[in-house]
Amino acid sequence: MGFKEQIDITRLPEHIAIIMDGNGRWAKNQGKFRVFGHESGVLSVKDIVEGCVDIGIKYLTVYAFSTENWNRPIEEVNALMELLISTINQEAETLNKNNVRLNAIGDLKSLPQKCIDDLANVMEITSKNTKCTLTLALSYSAKWEILEAAKRLAQQVQAEEITLEEINEDAFAAQLTTAQMPDPELMIRTSGEHRVSNFLLWQIAYTELYFTETLWPDFRREDLFEAIVDYQKRERRFGKISEQLN
Ligand code: FPP
Repeated sequence: MGFKEQIDITRLPEHIAIIMDGNGRWAKNQGKFRVFGHESGVLSVKDIVEGCVDIGIKYLTVYAFSTENWNRPIEEVNALMELLISTINQEAETLNKNNVRLNAIGDLKSLPQKCIDDLANVMEITSKNTKCTLTLALSYSAKWEILEAAKRLAQQVQAEEITLEEINEDAFAAQLTTAQMPDPELMIRTSGEHRVSNFLLWQIAYTELYFTETLWPDFRREDLFEAIVDYQKRERRFGKISEQLN
């Protein structure tokens, strides 16, 4: 029996977040340039989005470019930006066909103007889609996001729009870039690294983490289904004890 058949579709995670890692090593293993790994990684993104649509995952958030990735060699940064632009434009039609809404989080104003414009365009033309929301984290880091949220709340207190006492978990979460989505129940990282690398730190307080040795360009929907089967075997206690759970 394949992993898809083992999934209990009544207990799917609503939101899956993925740290797509290992593109560079995958390319190097084949004696190719790193950018070839990123290009191949796009095929994995496409397959995983289709896998999510296939089984009914409502939110998929992928770490496509971190704040720290700006420190990579300029040629690689430029190649990633070009790839992002060409991919979102080429995939707009398929996103619509699959009823997928494109969303982006991060310090988007730091991206090249063409990237900002094309993202805004594809987000607009997919904005009515309801089956799945694909969020690209771009120029994103969780520490950046948390600081921005803290600054906005401080400004609101200063302007006497809210009181200090009104700042609670809900008020804080409402200032994050993910305010419109549930927290991920499952976070996957490929390539054998066991880190969360500044991704969604607030949102993963109770997220199940899944690590696989598979490099991102080799990761396909069957690997996603395997991760979901693993997730469904876990007991999520949220600080309680087993006997308190139904
Ligand atoms: C990590 O692999 C991957 C990235 C930093 C970029 C991810 C980008 C893509 C999959 C392509 C663009 C995506 C979209 C959605 C259009 P790495 O380079 O850190 O690999 P390494 O750890 O083996 O060096």
